[in-house]
Amino acid sequence: MGKILVTGGAGFIGSHTVVELVQAGKDVVVLDNLSNSSEKSLDRVATIVGKKIPFYKADILDRDALEEIFSKESIDAVIHFAGLKAVGESTQKPWEYYENNIAGTLTLVDVMRKHGCKNIIFSSSATVYGNPAFIPITEECPKGQCTNPYGWTKSMLEQILSDIQKADNEWNVILLRYFNPIGAHKSGTIGENPNGIPNNLMPYITQVAVGKRDHLSVFGNDYDTHDGTGVRDYIHVVDLAIGHVKALQKIEEKAGLKIYNLGTGHGYSVLDIVKNFEEANGVKIPYEIVGRRPGDIATCYADPGLAKKELGWEAKYGIREMCEDSWRWQKNNPNGFED
Ligand code: NAD
Ligand code: UD1
Repeated sequence: MGKILVTGGAGFIGSHTVVELVQAGKDVVVLDNLSNSSEKSLDRVATIVGKKIPFYKADILDRDALEEIFSKESIDAVIHFAGLKAVGESTQKPWEYYENNIAGTLTLVDVMRKHGCKNIIFSSSATVYGNPAFIPITEECPKGQCTNPYGWTKSMLEQILSDIQKADNEWNVILLRYFNPIGAHKSGTIGENPNGIPNNLMPYITQVAVGKRDHLSVFGNDYDTHDGTGVRDYIHVVDLAIGHVKALQKIEEKAGLKIYNLGTGHGYSVLDIVKNFEEANGVKIPYEIVGRRPGDIATCYADPGLAKKELGWEAKYGIREMCEDSWRWQKNNPNGFED
């Protein structure tokens, strides 16, 4: 296979995936507009892998920039992470989310096909299951109603990419539905670097631990779960990254349209995470129970059996390591890439 273009490769999951791709011997080119990331993450990636990765600061909405990249580089496949992902913000700025995520992907895919590159791995999310019809969630579980525009962009892009593949079977489209990515590379030099107040649980916990936030608000303890708090399938970002390397096999096999859950199959509650984080790292996380967050569901965890069967992939890191690695990154980089 020729080169792999990683869109959004300076971001959280993208940077970890670039490391795993390069370490697996793949030839990688990164594109990112740096709207939610820093080029420093790619300097850190270069240190980890021992070589600089070709980088284009470009927007997936910028057709001319994409044309230039595809003309210069012989790209065989795209791993497409670029997108806006803040759930709350998407309810305030739906147009910006549909424009960036959907129009951006349509532009990307159009330039790809014009250059004869019809292989894409797309970052989807467990959010497409809505309030899941059954647990653990298999890929057969029907897609549901999303509670926010961000979620709809994922659900709609799955449909769009599937339709494109059905109309032209030269396309190979691999939709990866991520559960809840946390953790960081073992080096502690790359990790999640949210802008402003974190929306997600683990970055909020690490910011409490590092003294940036006073305490964690636990959103509801009256769910139908073992301790009343929400249950999720947290997955180490390095495991997730390796899932992408494995998914490339399906492109090489010309597998057509494939959908995989990337999760561990284990559900942990908010309080389980707090406890594991405290025990793994010897730090106290003060918390307060508050009301439910609108749009949240009680329980969400994967049946990751299909990815194991067809990709030979399975998550290998447990919750303790996820907590240790998230903390190592935050402790070493209290201000993210601004240090
Ligand atoms: P991230 O924000 O760290 O990475 C996304 C990257 O895309 C950023 O570096 C950003 O600068 C870039 N980007 C955004 N719009 C762009 C554009 N128009 N052109 C070029 N670059 C652009 O987020 P992440 O957590 O690494 O997520 C990666 C992908 O995985 C996203 O598509 C996200 O929706 C999806 N996803 C994330 C999660 C999660 O919990 N982190 C869960 C499910 C799915
Ligand atoms: C959220 C998004 C989802 C997105 C996913 C990954 C919503 C409604 N859903 O999912 O679309 O794909 O992130 O980015 O935002 N919690 C607290 N206190 C906090 C933060 C979270 O108690 O300060 C709880 C939540 O109620 C939930 C769990 O922790 O039970 C995990 O929350 P979070 O990390 O935001 O992920 P999801 O809600 O699963």
